[in-house]
Amino acid sequence: MIRVLGIETSCDETAASVVTLEGGGAPEILSDIVLSQIEEHAAFGGVVPEIAARAHVEALDGIIEAALADSGVDLADIDAIAATAGPGLVGGLIVGLMTAKAIAAAANKPLIAINHLEGHALTARLTDGLDFPYLLLLVSGGHTQIVAVRGVGDYQRWATTIDDALGEAFDKTAKMLGLPYPGGPNVEKVAATGDATRFAFPRPMKGSAQPDFSFSGLKTAVRQAATAIAPLSDQDVADICASFQAAVADALDDRVSRALNRFRQEFPGEAKPALVVAGGVAANRTIKATLEALCEKAGFAFVAPPLKLCTDNAAMIAWAGIERLRAGIAGENTADFLPRSRWPLDSISAPMVGSGRRGAKA
Ligand code: KG4
Ligand code: ZN
Repeated sequence: MIRVLGIETSCDETAASVVTLEGGGAPEILSDIVLSQIEEHAAFGGVVPEIAARAHVEALDGIIEAALADSGVDLADIDAIAATAGPGLVGGLIVGLMTAKAIAAAANKPLIAINHLEGHALTARLTDGLDFPYLLLLVSGGHTQIVAVRGVGDYQRWATTIDDALGEAFDKTAKMLGLPYPGGPNVEKVAATGDATRFAFPRPMKGSAQPDFSFSGLKTAVRQAATAIAPLSDQDVADICASFQAAVADALDDRVSRALNRFRQEFPGEAKPALVVAGGVAANRTIKATLEALCEKAGFAFVAPPLKLCTDNAAMIAWAGIERLRAGIAGENTADFLPRSRWPLDSISAPMVGSGRRGAKA
């Protein structure tokens, strides 16, 4: 039986969770507490790093206590503390990792420094018991990547954004149109009443042999269209949102279908391979439906873990800790591990300009 306490503070969620794994059984999430800072940042239209770090300091102790209490497990019975050590906003990372180090030292437990992206990458094994290898599409406010997940600690980034992350493009579009933060859910809501064919926005990178993403040109096209017809009526805003969402879905369809083809070539033994989506943008129904249809056509299983575990949480961090313990790669002397605001999941792929880590969630 392995029991791990997970801690996540890399952006604007303060989270703690206890996850267990018993023998060959399925893992169990005994507690999963996430405190969102959306209200603290809403007035600024985005995440303010200093405010985020202070909010983590104020909330983290209580959140960890609550996660332990909810789980019914004593700290003494926890096997290890797993904390996000990067990538993310360095202030929040310092708060989470230092707290984890203090608890680990005081309770004499091992500390496991986890890459936040590894947490997202392994979630589908926690929720759906997926076997390696599989393909991951991570689309959040800070990241837009396609990763071949081949094993614990064995990830290959096949694509990333060369400028904005997809969630960031949603957030910036919303801001431009005067919609409240966070932008993604509001753009989706308004788009439902809009005409997706009114504006012919570009489908960034569509047709390119390189599988990467780009969203800043699309953002500029939205701004130009909005400026050209300003002042905007509610219907104009809805039409822009719907057209933007259609362009995004179409671009994703093209990019992801290339990755599916590559997966087929590199892993020919997989009869029914899986595409897993993670990140807040995966909540978008148009995008989800597009990816589902694409998988259906390509003979892939489409795996979308419950949204609560797709967006930032500590259960995925605890689980990554369990996976590392089980694989015997939990690391040694992690008390010396320093937070890494930039920490690519795959150290082999050449860094891209921007690497999808611009903006507040960089
Ligand atoms: O994964 P997440 O909760 O946090 C990180 O970025 O780590 O993702 C948040 C992002 C935001 O940019 C938000 O606007 C976007 O996901 N998002 C959406 C939707 N819900 C959240 N984007 C499009 N449609 C949605 N329904
Ligand atoms: Zn995340």
